[in-house]
Amino acid sequence: MGQTSTTETNGPPPKYDAAAVERGKTTFVGACGFCHGSNAKGGEKGPDLLRSVLVLDDENGNTIGPFILRGRPDKGMPRFPFTPQQIADIAAFLHDSIKNAIERDNYKILDIVTGDPRAGAAFFNGAGHCNSCHSVTGDLKGIGARYEPVTLQGKFLQPDYTWTEGTPPHLVSAISVTVTLPSGESFSGALEHYDDFNVALRDGNGAYRSFTRANGVPRVEIHNRLQAHVDLLSRYTDSDIHNLTAYLVSLK
Ligand code: HEC
Ligand code: HEC
Repeated sequence: MGQTSTTETNGPPPKYDAAAVERGKTTFVGACGFCHGSNAKGGEKGPDLLRSVLVLDDENGNTIGPFILRGRPDKGMPRFPFTPQQIADIAAFLHDSIKNAIERDNYKILDIVTGDPRAGAAFFNGAGHCNSCHSVTGDLKGIGARYEPVTLQGKFLQPDYTWTEGTPPHLVSAISVTVTLPSGESFSGALEHYDDFNVALRDGNGAYRSFTRANGVPRVEIHNRLQAHVDLLSRYTDSDIHNLTAYLVSLK
């Protein structure tokens, strides 16, 4: 690897495969933009990645990859079970963004509002069935004025926050749990903790209850209030996502 970087420093700046950068961008905006900003320059909940030493040191995902897979849950960085391909794409996107930030002429803020709002409305009321749960004159009234576009997009395009230990609480609020003891007695509430040996919840009265687990006892059922959003993830095309975002942004 040392060899490669020496060559790169002396030669022309590296070029990243445009298709990989494009795929990486889509994955990044959906899974990471929510915290790190859609252009990776930092957001409300995550640091600027274009100045990150960990990213600058990376080659083809060799430091970013292990970090994404493990996360840093105690600091608010979830872990993501991405494939080597997805990691390589994200790495290509980040390195390409750094290169563009350095070559100032190329630098442009990533505009995520590029879709067609009318097509977005059609998807909302048609193939996406968003209107089976939402109404643009009810719960989503004026939503375009309430959030930045990237945050708004994150609202429906959140990554699969399958709960893992340490997932940030604001994401876990969508997740509830029911614990059923062998006696049949059951307890439900917001999931507070879950690993191979323990499960803990906070019930509707605010009481914290913790149970030890062994061999699948007690029975634990986890429900995601946003399961519909998770299920939709595999059905969007890139243009559906851009069109929906443009539509929601227009709801001022
Ligand atoms: C829920 C918010 C959140 C999401 C979503 C998120 N991150 Fe993070 N990320 C963080 C936080 C917070 C940190 C800082 C952790 C720390 O202080 O050690 C971080 C740190 C990082 C770092 C290390 C930066 C450094 O120099 O230490 C990288 C790289 C990173 N994130 C990449 C990603 C990628 C890629 C994704 C999407 C697959 C992603 N993150 C999704 C919140 C998030
Ligand atoms: C099966 C029901 C269901 C479907 C279908 C559904 N959602 Fe949601 N959506 C929810 C729930 C539940 C929430 C969380 C509401 C809350 O936090 O109070 C939510 C939240 C949202 C929010 C954030 C609202 C806010 O005020 O913060 C947006 C935006 C959104 N959904 C967009 C969409 C879009 C776009 C689609 C279609 C592609 C869609 N949803 C499909 C159930 C659904």
